[in-house]
Amino acid sequence: MPTTKPLVVVTRKLPEPIETRMAELFRVELNLDDHPFSREELAAAMAKADILVPTVTDRLDAAVLSQAGPNLRLIANFGTGVDHIDVATAHQRGITVTNTPDVLTEDTADMTMALILAVPRRLVEGERLLHSGQWAGWSPTHMLGNRIWGKRLGIVGMGRIGQAVARRARGFGMAVHYHNRRPVHQDVETELEATYWDSLDQMLARMDVISVHCPHTPATYHLLSARRLKLLHPTSYIVNTARGEVIDENALVRMLSNGELAGAGLDVFEQAPAVNPKLLSMKNVVAIPHMGSATIEGRIDMGEKVIINIKTFSDGHRPPDRVLPNLL
Ligand code: 8YV
Repeated sequence: MPTTKPLVVVTRKLPEPIETRMAELFRVELNLDDHPFSREELAAAMAKADILVPTVTDRLDAAVLSQAGPNLRLIANFGTGVDHIDVATAHQRGITVTNTPDVLTEDTADMTMALILAVPRRLVEGERLLHSGQWAGWSPTHMLGNRIWGKRLGIVGMGRIGQAVARRARGFGMAVHYHNRRPVHQDVETELEATYWDSLDQMLARMDVISVHCPHTPATYHLLSARRLKLLHPTSYIVNTARGEVIDENALVRMLSNGELAGAGLDVFEQAPAVNPKLLSMKNVVAIPHMGSATIEGRIDMGEKVIINIKTFSDGHRPPDRVLPNLL
């Protein structure tokens, strides 16, 4: 009996080899001009698809999920973070959710390290100065930043990406500290010579650089609240390549403006793609547009994971990267 291929609706443009492979394996509807889907377009996609492939730019809340047609059985997210998907509601409706962990860990850790270096060493400021034609020449006291070697890095969320950042930071002579719901395996702690802080508050008060790597969940929304940010020393830096919502961005902007923090490296923003203009006007802020996993290799690997999840699921097996609501 001929099997009908599932209808897979992909909400954003994916790397060409991924779209080609998907078209070979499934009936696909691609988004060739890459425009972000409106809520109406999302609802229409939910209504007709057997499988939806959304990304971080699609808000799949309970209202949109209520538009799911009877055939929608899998949401195969292109990305690791699933804070834009109401996973609990999807499960209640019998829809499986998968994501793409692991393959973007090293790229995201590289970009984090780039920010950890760029902000204290004033890399972007120096580059802009040169481009402005204003450089008057070398001087012993010009463009002085802060040393990274020997400083304390406090990692908030010691999962895959947090650990990959810790490995890199060790290579740059930083001492690794971390806060997590629970300590990581003893072997990992030993390898990284990492110090566990049960109390986030106590860790924040003692670090030179804070780097955020926890997922955004209801429990981590504004984890770095105005009160907690105040615990940071004015000479400390903060880097976020996780999700904007984990930091109270208004409080962060206020503190940076008042000189209560030394600087920030931000890949993610609370109201993305809108970015608080004050952040863009500050010399001690390096802001980039959610580029953590933006390598061609990484995005192809993510696409391959999506394909494996869809194929396994549509062949009647349990897909490897299921996201379970009780584990969020
Ligand atoms: C992705 C990310 O680019 O995977 C994630 O959670 O934040 C990014 O690396 C993006 O989410 C793709 O949907």
